[in-house]
Amino acid sequence: MRSNDQVWGSRIGLILAMAGNSVGLGNFLRFPVQAVQNGGGVFIIPYLTCFLLMGLPLLWVEWSMGRFGGQYGAHASPFILQSIGKRRFWAYMGVFGIFTNIAVAAYYCYIESWTLSYAIHSLRGTFIHLDQKGVVAFFNQYLEFNTNFFGIPGEAIVLFVICLALNGFILSKGLRGVEMVAKIGMPLLIVFGIVLATKSVSIGTGAASTSFPEGNAWDGLNFLWTPEYDTLWRPKIWLAAAGQIFFTLSVGMGTIHCYASYLKSREDIALNASTAGFTNEFIEIILGSLIVVPLAAGYLGMDWVKENISFGVAFQTMPFLFHQWGVVLGSAAGVLWFGLLFFAGITSSLAMGTPWVSFMQDEFQWSQSKGALSFALLTLLLGLPCVLFYRYGVFDEFDYWAGTVSLVVFALAEVILFAWVWGMDKGWSEINKGAELRIPSGYKLIIKYVTPSLLLVVFIGALITPVDNNWIAAINSFLNGGGWALDHSSIISKLFQSALQEQLLLATEPQEIQWISKQLLYSNLSRFLLLGLFLMISWLVYKASKLPKNEY
Ligand code: ALA
Repeated sequence: MRSNDQVWGSRIGLILAMAGNSVGLGNFLRFPVQAVQNGGGVFIIPYLTCFLLMGLPLLWVEWSMGRFGGQYGAHASPFILQSIGKRRFWAYMGVFGIFTNIAVAAYYCYIESWTLSYAIHSLRGTFIHLDQKGVVAFFNQYLEFNTNFFGIPGEAIVLFVICLALNGFILSKGLRGVEMVAKIGMPLLIVFGIVLATKSVSIGTGAASTSFPEGNAWDGLNFLWTPEYDTLWRPKIWLAAAGQIFFTLSVGMGTIHCYASYLKSREDIALNASTAGFTNEFIEIILGSLIVVPLAAGYLGMDWVKENISFGVAFQTMPFLFHQWGVVLGSAAGVLWFGLLFFAGITSSLAMGTPWVSFMQDEFQWSQSKGALSFALLTLLLGLPCVLFYRYGVFDEFDYWAGTVSLVVFALAEVILFAWVWGMDKGWSEINKGAELRIPSGYKLIIKYVTPSLLLVVFIGALITPVDNNWIAAINSFLNGGGWALDHSSIISKLFQSALQEQLLLATEPQEIQWISKQLLYSNLSRFLLLGLFLMISWLVYKASKLPKNEY
């Protein structure tokens, strides 16, 4: 018998914790960037399609798999999957559901620590007298090595450690701790978001009359909300939309399985999962698109936004823009913005910690505190290379393999298990057990055929993305015997580091060669760490699978 017998304290706590798991930095930092880079209004159509055909079905699947596994006392994906698939293979597949979380938490908590630091700096008025270049310089200095003690970015590390300690402390309190943070953080986040969105949009064209002639917040909104159907067919936009849906909902990660495993066996899934999913979408589509883009367009113009949008804008530009509202309002807006990001981040990173803690509790009788402490230490160990070697691309390597590819692989595996191995009849009745919402019956077919097919298309599309994302030219070339030229962004090219290898071949200057060689070195180091983590969790699953309780 497993010792982990926690339950959620209340329904609202469960929904807020689940919504908090989904609502994260992705809603405010990743969504606007993806939307702008993928054509603005045109992005929203594939995005919503992916939500309805992949995101929502996967939410129901993950919630019901989790609740089912919980009846067997399994609270992390390895033995949740095994309780359904009955074969050891599925326990190993479930390793993804712990691996992804620790690997993503390693860099996610780092960004979370930036938000904490920036909220403190906003409160202290650090940005008051800085111009746009000054705010960018502050950011670079924060991440760089040359300004702090012994060549190490001291403040970044201290804040990172504080952030991990906070996560560890809350996790040590179990579900009650997670629930309490969600109950405080989520409402505050929504209030902060509404205040900032209202103020950002209300700039309108007002700034254009002052020192920002290009400024027009409406341009930002028009760009995001006016569909352009002529580019809708581009696979790149669909792949980006699918990737955003995975990341923002936290599907294919293992966190939802874990949270749902603490439900009672007949507790509703249909309504709870839908509420949490739609809450995330409301926050992403409405608040996520009403802050950064209109504010930046309102002062710097939409052309600037199109050219410069990246997740760094939140740190490199927003403090400067807020201070156009004056000293007091500017500082307050900074506290609200970075506070909002911090709450969004911590409610997600706590969810990333829970599968590991639950797994060690379930299988090795670790206490909650020991599990929480070990999560913080593991995350620190993996996160430090992200902090110290940020400029060599360690962060991006983690994000690509753990935060992008793994999600699709795991989501594909779980939906095959659910709909095909277990069988859609059993799956459908599990989803509908105790349901307080009638899910349209068409979703039975969608989960069985459409969701896995789309996932497969997304995976293959990412695996062999052709050069310049030009699928028509690639297919023609292939049919005419001209081969298939891969884009540097394809999974296969990434695996072989083809972009860096090509740069190395073309490089002539010794300094340039040294720089690229270092990037290759650190990219290999990141992969070594990620592989080591995966193998370590697989080994733990192997040890746990030998225990009599896992023989079913
Ligand atoms: N779902 C979380 C986010 O959007 C991971 O940031």
